[in-house]
Amino acid sequence: METTKQRPIGVAAVEALPVNRAGAPSAAYAGAGRGTPRVLRPILSLDDFEHAARRVLPRPLFGYIAGAAEDNLSLRANRTSFSDYSFITRTLVDVSKRDQSIQIFDETYSAPFGIAPVGISALSAYRGDLALANAAQADGIPAIMSGSSLISMEEVQSSAPRTWFQAYLPGDRTKIRGLIDRVRKAGFRTLVATIDLPVWANRENNVRTGFSMPLRPSLRLAVDGMTHPRWLFGTFLRTLVLHGMPHFENSFAERGAPMLSTRAIRDTTGRDHLSWDDISEIRRLWDGPFVLKGILSEHDARRAVKIGADGIIVSNHGGRQLDGAAASLAVLPGIVDAVNGAAVVMMDSGIRRGGDVLKAIALGASCVFVGRPFMYAAAVGGQAGVSHAISLLRQEVDRNQAMLGRLSIDDVDRTCLHRVS
Ligand code: FNR
Repeated sequence: METTKQRPIGVAAVEALPVNRAGAPSAAYAGAGRGTPRVLRPILSLDDFEHAARRVLPRPLFGYIAGAAEDNLSLRANRTSFSDYSFITRTLVDVSKRDQSIQIFDETYSAPFGIAPVGISALSAYRGDLALANAAQADGIPAIMSGSSLISMEEVQSSAPRTWFQAYLPGDRTKIRGLIDRVRKAGFRTLVATIDLPVWANRENNVRTGFSMPLRPSLRLAVDGMTHPRWLFGTFLRTLVLHGMPHFENSFAERGAPMLSTRAIRDTTGRDHLSWDDISEIRRLWDGPFVLKGILSEHDARRAVKIGADGIIVSNHGGRQLDGAAASLAVLPGIVDAVNGAAVVMMDSGIRRGGDVLKAIALGASCVFVGRPFMYAAAVGGQAGVSHAISLLRQEVDRNQAMLGRLSIDDVDRTCLHRVS
């Protein structure tokens, strides 16, 4: 793990926020209220975005984002795992020049958290992939664009060139090569392969709310849309009129199925035979940083290092794949020890507070990613909403880091924590 102390993001630094392509927060950084759009002012924490998004989004779309698999065992464990640790503070440390920036793959980021890949975000928020990527780029944090997305990777990359690309691997090698080739030509530097989806999870909640991919037109869907006019006019119809019917743009080298259709089938079959040989092949094809997302075992982490992965994301997919899978935070320390510095270890699943970010960092993560809250933020306030969410989390990290008595993210280590149980 390489972390450096590049620029101070303490309270004093927040007052004067220069724009900087290398990753400093932009003028869009909302701070504690000045310049914050009215709709965002009551939103004081990431969880507040969920309540706001529930009002804006039709039920199937809100359910798609909020939901997990089967009985939500892993979803709940993702949150409760953070209570297994409490903080041990150090007092009377001069933290006036504290700094939360990090370095990953030779890039400097202004905070130790980023935006996880979230599928079909352009259906929940107007031009959602761009809102997420542009906010991250402007505010200097990492963002991973989902391969299950409705805006072309080329458009997102040219708007926010520091974005990472996440691929779901197609089932055959020719298609894998075609996709990797396209990602390279589009100009992405960092490739993330999500490997925890050999088959679709049992997401009963999607069936109950009438969500499917593609969406099937129905009376129920129409009523849901009409009862959420802000979404209907501000996102859905605006997208149809200005950009046409959204399609899965980035699953393969070529365009995929439309998002709303009575008949179209999305080709997601044939992933269950994929193996480490396929991942090794991608490693050979991809020159830039290569990250594997969805690792929960020390065995797989060692294997990732062996095939030459530069990074791994410890993740149970936000509790959306195997229900009962371990919480990422619970297995993180063992994986960090197993990798022993040979790759960058990152994590996601359940991060909602600056304190959560710091607990994961203290257990050895170089960076964490946040999924649902940034998606809600985009649905509620577009790019400004995402910037507001980044700002809230940044301030929480800053405050907590100060109270912990740690000057830099490098100083946040296991001595900050007490294991409760
Ligand atoms: C996801 N996730 C995900 N992961 C991925 O690799 N590719 C994808 O396209 C998606 N799509 C997706 C859609 C939605 C609606 C959600 C909520 C999640 C998983 C995501 O990247 C991340 O692992 C989790 O969201 C992290 O958990 P939290 O932060 O949502 O608790």
